[in-house]
Amino acid sequence: MTDPIYQTEALIAEDIEAYLDLHQHKSMLRFITCGSVDDGKSTLIGRLLYDSKMIFEDQLAALENDSKKVGTQGGEIDFALLVDGLAAEREQGITIDVAYRFFSTEKRKFIVADCPGHEQYTRNMVTGASTADLAVILIDARKGVLTQTRRHSYLAHLIGIRHIVLAVNKMDLIGYDQARYDAIVADYSAFAASIGIAGFTAMPISGFKGDNITAPSANTPWYSGPTLMGHLEAVDVNTAAEAAGVFRMPVQWVNRPNLDFRGFSGLIANGTVKPGDAVRVLPSGKTSTVTRIVTMPSAGFAGETAGDGDLEQAVAGQSVTLCLADEIDCSRGDVLAASDAPPQVADQFEANLVWMADEPLVPGRAYWLKLASQTVSVTVSQPKCTINVNTMERLAAKTLELNAIGLAEITTDRPIVFEPYTESRTLGGFILIDKISNATVAAGMLNFSLRRAQNVHWQALDVTREAHARMKGQSPAVLWFTGLSGSGKSTIANLVEKKLHALGKHTFLLDGDNVRHGLNKDLGFTEADRIENIRRVAEVAKLMTDAGLIVLTAFISPFRAERDMVRALLPEGEFFEIFVDTPLEEAERRDVKGLYKKARSGALKNFTGIDSPYEAPEEPEIRVDTMGESPEEAAERIVALIIGDWMPVI
Ligand code: ADX
Repeated sequence: MTDPIYQTEALIAEDIEAYLDLHQHKSMLRFITCGSVDDGKSTLIGRLLYDSKMIFEDQLAALENDSKKVGTQGGEIDFALLVDGLAAEREQGITIDVAYRFFSTEKRKFIVADCPGHEQYTRNMVTGASTADLAVILIDARKGVLTQTRRHSYLAHLIGIRHIVLAVNKMDLIGYDQARYDAIVADYSAFAASIGIAGFTAMPISGFKGDNITAPSANTPWYSGPTLMGHLEAVDVNTAAEAAGVFRMPVQWVNRPNLDFRGFSGLIANGTVKPGDAVRVLPSGKTSTVTRIVTMPSAGFAGETAGDGDLEQAVAGQSVTLCLADEIDCSRGDVLAASDAPPQVADQFEANLVWMADEPLVPGRAYWLKLASQTVSVTVSQPKCTINVNTMERLAAKTLELNAIGLAEITTDRPIVFEPYTESRTLGGFILIDKISNATVAAGMLNFSLRRAQNVHWQALDVTREAHARMKGQSPAVLWFTGLSGSGKSTIANLVEKKLHALGKHTFLLDGDNVRHGLNKDLGFTEADRIENIRRVAEVAKLMTDAGLIVLTAFISPFRAERDMVRALLPEGEFFEIFVDTPLEEAERRDVKGLYKKARSGALKNFTGIDSPYEAPEEPEIRVDTMGESPEEAAERIVALIIGDWMPVI
């Protein structure tokens, strides 16, 4: 029983502690395999699992038979099932599905993400690649560098994978022809250089025959490089680059079990830290000194002060709790960094985006952006270009569709701590989340902050918004009327303004049709234009509330996301959503401006309710049922509620 798998079992049985210790101290390599469907990816993974004793001979044989019988595509599917039933872990994302397999050798543990090849799986590949240290790009030696090879290499490079292996597979089928191999490597070299890949390791292999997988093959005497397994076991990925960097740790949470202990917990993204080091909290810029590095967050909870979980030093990749000498403000989302070399803070960036949702990007719409432990609201501009991942061409685009890759400017609603993605995956990589469905819609990589963001600073004013409001003797507010065209928004808003005015309130009414004659006369009725319309109106309304006014707005504002954006823009309690609820049939029957008729005849495109959607408010502050209430009654009720019940008296 000399087989490693039995030795391992014996060790587990005899001395589980020794086994766990051995296992725990092995380094971990995360890698992806990519290539097109029939280049032998399944067979290769099968070979690696077999050679590392994770599956047995008969299973490998079954797999290879399958591959031969039904073609490798069928083999791939069967293989997935086979491995799933055995040693593999399959982690399922909510919408994005990447198969992860685990195996280990005596030297190292491995997690391999098997990424499907087609373009429609770009998002799967990006998901798998986002945590990978290395990519094995498989090439069928008979076919050479294909479109898929270029796409996968580009994506792997974009996602920041530092190690690329060019595995020229099926060498047995070309008679181990060195000239053919050299030509493929030269071809790939030229392409790799053109997209900025600094280096790669090429090897001639046969997953099917086992050439150069675990042992040097006698069939390729002209090749003196490493075997695939040898390379995977030896490649230096132990976050050497991260460890050598400058200290950064995004704060995941603050540990404050009692008054004597306050620690900041997180995973060190870059560099090393020691007690006594001067650190800076970003974005506030406050500084302090590290007093302790506690490994177990629970050490603090138990109130242990002896510090038996304390470290002399911690490096990138370790999860720790840091205690600081001063009681400075620091909370989840902040970043602790070396005091003399802090990361940047900005709110406008250029970024690469990989779109992962069926719904295309809506430029101007607010999404959540998650970067390290920071979550902020963000808007994305119209893309500067998209990249055709098959030809590397840059194309003009108005949006990003599923699997598209593009370059765009993004603006966050407050400054975030970041570094360019090429310098830090942790502080430069982010995801975008749809605010309504909560689905992850994009993965992104920050390139740099826009200089204008650094040169425009908020000017502190002496006459504050409170002072403006006090002089007017009122609390500022926005009464946001929303509803279909012809629902009665303008009529009711007008009546409400008259009543408020009569009560001595300082008001201003922004009306859709009017604003579209001036400030917004460059905007039409596409989704993007309507979003921009509302964004500008929201900013104007906000400025007016800063001046102390009660602002009334009458815009269809058909999208929930933008109405929520306005709500978020204003201080709590100043935004009142008033849904003028007139059924479409009724608005169309009234057709005050004759526009429904035009829309029905096809003379007017993108008309709300006809060929453009209206998303009714779910929980408006006030709902007006115009079928059961006259405009006068509605206005009376709105004024009574706003002034009488809700508005704080100044
Ligand atoms: S919003 O959707 O961007 O909020 P807004 O309230 O500014 O629309 O403008 C709506 C008004 O523009 C309507 O009351 C109508 O008079 C006019 N209009 C012209 N074309 C359209 C259209 N395609 N859809 C809706 N309203 C339109």
